[in-house]
Amino acid sequence: MSAPATAPPPDPNRPPLRLGSTVPDFEAETTLGHIKFHEFLGNSWGILFSHPGDFTPVCTTELGEVARRAKAGDWEKRNVKVIGISANSLDDHYKWVKDINEYGTKSVSETDVQYPIIADGDRRISYLFDMLDYQDATNIDPKSGLPFTIRTVYIIDPAKKVRLKLDYPAVAGRNFDEIIRVLDAIQLGDKHRIATPVNWKPGEDVIVHASVQGEEAKRLFPEHVVHYPYLRTTPLKV
Ligand code: BEZ
Repeated sequence: MSAPATAPPPDPNRPPLRLGSTVPDFEAETTLGHIKFHEFLGNSWGILFSHPGDFTPVCTTELGEVARRAKAGDWEKRNVKVIGISANSLDDHYKWVKDINEYGTKSVSETDVQYPIIADGDRRISYLFDMLDYQDATNIDPKSGLPFTIRTVYIIDPAKKVRLKLDYPAVAGRNFDEIIRVLDAIQLGDKHRIATPVNWKPGEDVIVHASVQGEEAKRLFPEHVVHYPYLRTTPLKV
């Protein structure tokens, strides 16, 4: 890994990114060229995900998985653009992508990373999105003493609002089944005034949203069952 440039100090006046915040716009160099983030997202959903560093084992498996999901059409059918980020140079990214493709292809199935990876050597964007590790003392770049990025996932909607933020420590690889499951739940909730119960999977019964009451509940969800006034479940035909 190449040594990162000096990190800019985090701006103490910047409000934290919360669910519903508009994601910051930024320009960056990526493995697919220069981007303006909002322009890159366009009218799509977005998944921005960081990882601790290039040439690290867990990350190698994660980025391969995101590429295989792309090949399977999992992002396109949900109108999602995915983009990775880590505090490494573009040169490192290009070299590492070869390893990701080679390892993924031999250990799982054909792997070909086609989505962009941001080169955030100075951590400018990682700071903006609160993707740095202040807790795990082992997750520090030995050359600079700066914290590496952690495994953060943002799901961003077409209005550029944060809809989900997950932070994982460096030692635990993410579960992209879960990330897609929650994306499905969010997209379904946007369309149908429902919520999804614990461990929900597509096709299973959902929960009628509290804002839907009386005659409207009967009309929208004729098969719904009232377990308690506050807990009503229904099958959903999509
Ligand atoms: C990994 O991706 O394997 C990793 C990266 C940083 C710290 C620990 C593990």
